[in-house]
Amino acid sequence: THTPRIFSGIQPSGGLTLGNYLGALQRFVSLQDSGIETIYCLVDLHALTTWQDPDKLRLQTREAAAAFMAAGVDPVRSILFNQSQVSAHAELSWLLSCVARVGWMDRMTQFKDKGGKDRERVSLGLYAYPALMAADILAYHATAVPVGDDQKQHLELTRDIAAKFNHDYDVDFFPITEPLIEGVATRVMSLRDGSKKMSKSDPSDASRINLTDDADAISKKIRKARTDAEPLPGSMDGLKDRPEARNLVNIYAALSEETPDQVLTRFEGKGFGDFKPALADLAVSVVSPITGRMNDFMADPAEIDRVLGDGADRADAIARPILDQTKDIVGL
Ligand code: ADP
Ligand code: NA
Repeated sequence: THTPRIFSGIQPSGGLTLGNYLGALQRFVSLQDSGIETIYCLVDLHALTTWQDPDKLRLQTREAAAAFMAAGVDPVRSILFNQSQVSAHAELSWLLSCVARVGWMDRMTQFKDKGGKDRERVSLGLYAYPALMAADILAYHATAVPVGDDQKQHLELTRDIAAKFNHDYDVDFFPITEPLIEGVATRVMSLRDGSKKMSKSDPSDASRINLTDDADAISKKIRKARTDAEPLPGSMDGLKDRPEARNLVNIYAALSEETPDQVLTRFEGKGFGDFKPALADLAVSVVSPITGRMNDFMADPAEIDRVLGDGADRADAIARPILDQTKDIVGL
């Protein structure tokens, strides 16, 4: 059996969104106080699977670190670092790529969603992404990973790779990592299209609330969010066929730490003319303080680099021996 340890990551491939906050950062903070070791990584190698402007990538990586800390991740109680500073991720990724099967990668729906059908245009890195993600997790023998619903399939693959490695080499070395998927905000959807998740990589800025958006921008995006003309029902059962309305109610519930049904009890019979301004005020009241703290951190980039460097040292101290043992097991 393995010592409980939590690992998770976010790509610095753009500014972080309200989806990242509600689905990931907020939970990272609460897990920090669970008594279990927490390791949080800015996965900059993953960001490279689609082309990034080099200077922007550097900036976004610091900004993501600022967002983590502004949300309440404490780089003393948690380990906070960026992936490219700990070479065990890339090295273990190769070893695990030789264990994973091509057919498993072929079944990843996110690859298809992100343009994987156009095989002449998409990078090999994007295809192999889940093997690097497996390395991120297994380099720390992480036993649990808090992820949104969108990452569930990739985590399944990590479990399959760990099990195959253990089987192929007749060892009980890698843990079979558990997903931690809970809460109403495991999948915050786009404000423009109720069938897509809110994402920092969506080309439409109106589709998401960025943690750096000011009050006006947030209100405007919520006012313009796609909805329908029907009044709100008294419970979520009444929203089965209304994905956009469901999404806004879910966001409200996650922000106010209520259940969606509790929210609807208050708004039953009301239309979006009433609901949207209330949601906008609530979103601003949650996001604005985070934006303010992010700006404070961003005023001192050298301090962010120092925090990330310290985190990388602590991460390396865990990952390096596990990589060395993995190499030994496979005969290197
Ligand atoms: P993005 O799609 O914004 O680039 P990432 O792939 O970097 O997000 O995901 C980072 C973390 O944020 C993951 O744990 C993921 O599950 C979570 N996450 C991303 N988008 C959402 C969303 N729309 N709703 C809930 N959680 C999300
Ligand atoms: Na993503």
